Amino acid sequence: MSWCGVAGAAPVWRLRAGALWSPSGGSVRFCSSGTTLGSASRAIVDRVIRVDHAGEYGANRIYAGQMAVLGRTSVGPIIQKMWDQEKEHLRKFSELMVASRVRPTVLMPLWTVAGFALGAGTALLGKEGAMACTVAVEESIARHYNNQIRTLMEDDPEKHEELLQVIKKFRDEELEHHDIGLDHDAELAPAYAVLKSLIQAGCSAAIYLSERF
Ligand SMILES: [Fe+2]
Ligand SMILES: [Fe+2]
Repeated sequence: MSWCGVAGAAPVWRLRAGALWSPSGGSVRFCSSGTTLGSASRAIVDRVIRVDHAGEYGANRIYAGQMAVLGRTSVGPIIQKMWDQEKEHLRKFSELMVASRVRPTVLMPLWTVAGFALGAGTALLGKEGAMACTVAVEESIARHYNNQIRTLMEDDPEKHEELLQVIKKFRDEELEHHDIGLDHDAELAPAYAVLKSLIQAGCSAAIYLSERF
């Protein structure tokens, strides 16, 4: 797949909000496919890329928090491997954000703090707490990606083909992270069911806000 040649994992969100965004709201041509999107499809792509960029950024901050606490323990290499995949996810959505002229959410500074706090906070409960966090977050993200796949398919599978390929690949990798969490005793975390519900409520709120702001 070849999106327009753009810089890699530049910290896009640090650019002034709106700097990458065309306020005209008109149709936008996708360099990779030559596809021109109408305003309804454009609005969908805007929302999808903005929230997914925010989500992958948040995931990176969660794994950073976990590594700060558990990096030198036996699960350090396992967490690092998942984090490396999240870095690739973020790099891709940063690239799509530039190529598609989508502005980042204004809530990025909040996700910087909240993501790290969630990762470090659950890791302080032990490796089971960190893995419970991973299971909760990855399950929410996989469900979110499935919802987006449905929306994009209903809108126009051909026009959104490249974006669909990216989301499907990342969805599968998030499910692998989910299973790794379960394999490493997530369910033995203190108050696992409550912890999972709380984290997933937070994920739903973060998705709602990042899609809109
Ligand atoms: Fe991810
Ligand atoms: Fe993940």
